[in-house]
Amino acid sequence: MLQTIKERRSIHSFKDEEVDTDILKEIFTYGSYAPTHYMKEPWNIKLYQGRGRDGFIDSILKSYQRIGMIKKDNAPKTLKMMDSMKQFLLEIPHHAVIYLEKEANAIRNEENYAAVCAFIQNAQLAAWEYGVGMLWTITPYMHDPEFLQEIDLEDEQVKIAAVMQIGYPKKVKQDRGRTPIDEKLEIIE
Ligand SMILES: Cc1cc2nc3c(=O)[nH]c(=O)nc-3n(C[C@H](O)[C@H](O)[C@H](O)COP(=O)(O)O)c2cc1C
Repeated sequence: MLQTIKERRSIHSFKDEEVDTDILKEIFTYGSYAPTHYMKEPWNIKLYQGRGRDGFIDSILKSYQRIGMIKKDNAPKTLKMMDSMKQFLLEIPHHAVIYLEKEANAIRNEENYAAVCAFIQNAQLAAWEYGVGMLWTITPYMHDPEFLQEIDLEDEQVKIAAVMQIGYPKKVKQDRGRTPIDEKLEIIE
């Protein structure tokens, strides 16, 4: 486990192979042992795989157009861009939208988001032990209310914490290490 913490890397390219759903369930089960204030367990997951990705990816592309990241015209350049974006997203075997219910109290929201982040990291570490790679992404469409509606979520009720890209790693990037902890740590005694 300690080795996994250091060796896990964010994965940017995946093999053309699905991860068994039972393995993904195991991975998310490990995720759910994250600490959670008031035992709220605020994490929810929408897992897109196989043909289930088609509508999800279309919604992403439409959102990019609404946001202005991709033009709305039918110019060859635009169509080519849409196509390559779609292809790129289809090369990712699983997309997991991780979301949480919003609460009126800002502090509770912060606590819930913190627990969801702990859930995500637990899941990433568990995945690594199964040879499964993940990329934690925060993307502009997560904040587009129409995108949420398209995937059957209500912007007023939920916040998307992350979209995880998941699959067996094609390539693992080199470890860039971390800043020595002494540079971050102040001991008061
Ligand atoms: C909250 C959060 C959001 C992230 N969003 C992205 C992202 O949108 N795109 C991306 O390529 N990596 C994203 N990452 C991954 C980081 O880039 C990655 O963790 C960092 O480069 C260190 O690499 P490592 O995870 O391989 O150690 C995100 C990480 C966190 C914690």
